[in-house]
Amino acid sequence: MRRPMVAGNWKMHGTRASVAELTQGLSQLSLSSGIEVAVFPPALFINTVIDGLAKTKIVVGAQNSAVQSEQGALTGEVAPSQLAEVGCKLVLIGHSERRQVIGESDEVLNRKFAAAQAAGLKPVLCVGETLEEREAGKTLEVVGRQLSSIIDAFGVSAFANAVIAYEPVWAIGTGLTASPQQAQDVHAAIRQQLAAQDAEVAEGVQLLYGGSVKAANAAELFGMPDIDGGLIGGASLNADEFGAICRAAGN
Ligand code: PGA
Repeated sequence: MRRPMVAGNWKMHGTRASVAELTQGLSQLSLSSGIEVAVFPPALFINTVIDGLAKTKIVVGAQNSAVQSEQGALTGEVAPSQLAEVGCKLVLIGHSERRQVIGESDEVLNRKFAAAQAAGLKPVLCVGETLEEREAGKTLEVVGRQLSSIIDAFGVSAFANAVIAYEPVWAIGTGLTASPQQAQDVHAAIRQQLAAQDAEVAEGVQLLYGGSVKAANAAELFGMPDIDGGLIGGASLNADEFGAICRAAGN
């Protein structure tokens, strides 16, 4: 059985004071043993958060990592091996803000995905369509293509050690959430695409939904058969709200 995962993407938020407060709040949550919980702080605060959560079951990931696995001459980047060395376990790859605002291409994301796995980090591959693409009926085509990029380069077995997050771009930070059925339809299609090549990988991979998830809508989303938890942005910045979302995943 797949274990539900709840992951908090803090994005570019936080000061020393707010990160300390949030970490403290998270360290006091009582979390179901049946779920996996992760947070993705800004790189600047990763060390502090790892220390602050050391006695908890919450694992820490990075929001981005370099195209090469090992440290070296690459100004401004953080190597997956460096992240692993300080205790990071996961890394977000291909969040829509990085695809769209930073302009990361599938080719760059493929390199980041492989570099992360080579360093022992588990990539969380984010996929999702824009509003125009959804309205044009292209959702499954777009998501399928983003997924194929990795499958074509590394084989479907790359997802034996990865997580996938479906995040419709129109639902991120907008307060608009995909309905549980809309999300389920895409999740089922993702799993089918993987199953066409490897049923075991498809059954095992955790598929998270992201886009305006909050305590009030989490249970309904997580109740769908192919939704194995969530990638939470705004609502992950409040420990109580995040804790409530974790409880929804644990039930
Ligand atoms: P949101 O962000 O929960 O604030 O919509 C989700 C995400 O971008 O991962």
